[in-house]
Amino acid sequence: MLRTLPAISKPNIGRQCNITGTDVPEAMIFRGDLLISSLSGSPRSISSIYYYDDNGSALYERLCKEESYYLFRDERSILARNAKSISGITGPVSLVELGSGNAEKTLLLITSYSEIFGSVNYAAIDINSSILKRAAENILSMKSDVNFTGIIGTYNTGLEKAATLVGPKLLLSLGSSVGNMYDDELCDLLGSVRSFLGRGDYFLVGIDLDKESDVLEAAYNNQSAILANLCVLQHLNWRFDGNFDLFQFRHVAFHNKSLFRMEGHLEAMQAQSIDLKKLKFSFHLKKGEMIRTEIMRKVNLHRFHEMFIKYGLSPVHNWTDSNKRYAISLLQRG
Ligand SMILES: C[S@@+](CC[C@H](N)C(=O)[O-])C[C@H]1O[C@@H](n2cnc3c(N)ncnc32)[C@H](O)[C@@H]1O
Repeated sequence: MLRTLPAISKPNIGRQCNITGTDVPEAMIFRGDLLISSLSGSPRSISSIYYYDDNGSALYERLCKEESYYLFRDERSILARNAKSISGITGPVSLVELGSGNAEKTLLLITSYSEIFGSVNYAAIDINSSILKRAAENILSMKSDVNFTGIIGTYNTGLEKAATLVGPKLLLSLGSSVGNMYDDELCDLLGSVRSFLGRGDYFLVGIDLDKESDVLEAAYNNQSAILANLCVLQHLNWRFDGNFDLFQFRHVAFHNKSLFRMEGHLEAMQAQSIDLKKLKFSFHLKKGEMIRTEIMRKVNLHRFHEMFIKYGLSPVHNWTDSNKRYAISLLQRG
């Protein structure tokens, strides 16, 4: 059953807008058992989904405005220059986006599709319901010819809900979000994408490219990145009644060249005991011990595409920014 949320604000009146919840309870998205096992692992880690409560989504938007965080600007410039070519290749399609966030960059694509083909169907999937409302407001205040559907859920549950869409589709993943996934998570997603797309449908993926350590490390060591990382602990505190003291942790982000990724960690500045009451789980951290909170892949495009090809998704075209720092790939389901 879809749970319908309260209607969003007035500017959207007269336009098609629908935001639906998911029948997957939050406890299935933010799974305590998985958190316990990742915090008990070696190294200890926390899934990057804990970045995205309301606070974390606001901090991500702030990060996108940081001078050193070139990813947002590069991806936006690629879309601004190439939205028409992308819509020309795919022809008229319904747009479905994984992890839409506020959909600011997606608006460039939506505008191109609506100018060329008339009205556009756009379905945005995100675990954060507030950001979906923002996406709806952003888009519907600018465009009158969009049918907006917001689906609150994970990538996988969202794709199941969006499977009722008929006709040709373009699935989007922007913001280098696939770069936050470990190999097993990415394979799991690509399996769902393959089932979701019909033959001939398209998948447009934004991904950051491998480059010099100093550029990468600057992008993830600014004030917004530091705050966003620490706020993961705040999220765990409210969700699981925890006692993480944010002042007892230090943000650490470094380029792991051999694994082609940046890594975000939180380092315990003192020995301390952590208790997550709702999970009946406690553990001890030594001084200097690190908890990994995020990976951000920095890829070689051709090697990266090999995973997609295994799932029947063939590269059709790649676009990069003028400095060749970031790429957007269009893949097609065979
Ligand atoms: C890196 S941000 C990218 C946002 C937007 N696509 C952009 O390019 O600016 C990732 C977005 O995906 C959402 N998200 C993260 N993990 C998710 C998951 N497992 N399922 C659904 N949404 C997720 C977050 O709430 C956030 O809005």
